[in-house]
Amino acid sequence: MSENQKKIWVTGASSGIGRAVAEKFAKEGWKVAVSARREEILNEMSKNENIFSFPLDVTNFDNCKSTFDKILNQFGNIDICFLCSGTYDPKKEQEINIEQNKFVMNVNYFGTLNCVKSVEEYFKKRKKRTYLNCIFNCRV
Ligand SMILES: NC(=O)c1ccc[n+]([C@@H]2O[C@H](COP(=O)([O-])OP(=O)(O)OC[C@H]3O[C@@H](n4cnc5c(N)ncnc54)[C@H](OP(=O)(O)O)[C@@H]3O)[C@@H](O)[C@H]2O)c1
Repeated sequence: MSENQKKIWVTGASSGIGRAVAEKFAKEGWKVAVSARREEILNEMSKNENIFSFPLDVTNFDNCKSTFDKILNQFGNIDICFLCSGTYDPKKEQEINIEQNKFVMNVNYFGTLNCVKSVEEYFKKRKKRTYLNCIFNCRV
């Protein structure tokens, strides 16, 4: 591994946008930390020498914080956080059940905030420019 190898943390990396982003960055030579709940998929992905698995449920703040700390310990630094964990529950207005729908806010809104708050202090202290991208499909 070169000393200058760039590093990225991708959440929601077990499928969809997050997985595509993780695999693209790995292909470009970046060191990639991948997070999601489905550990077996992350383990499969980490057969790529540039991909490292850090299972995570974003709805749990302590889990987000300790996962980011583990990544920093292992990687030393992070250049980009790409937060892609998300879910959706499309319904016609008449069919929406507020109680059942709360998990969407829990993952998309609070899950993203949990990740942002977990990395905030690191970003503030870091002198180099760092990028934080969120895929966010909740309007509040
Ligand atoms: N695809 C699009 O064109 C598009 C456009 C606009 C917005 N969006 C939104 O962007 C988000 C991602 O889209 P996608 O197409 O990539 O969806 P996807 O294929 O379903 O991927 C969602 C990812 O989020 C992870 N995830 C879900 N709940 C989680 C949790 N509690 N903790 C950690 N990870 C969790 C899933 O992994 P695990 O199940 O393994 O945890 C999976 O890796 C969704 O909210 C979607 O609605 C998508």
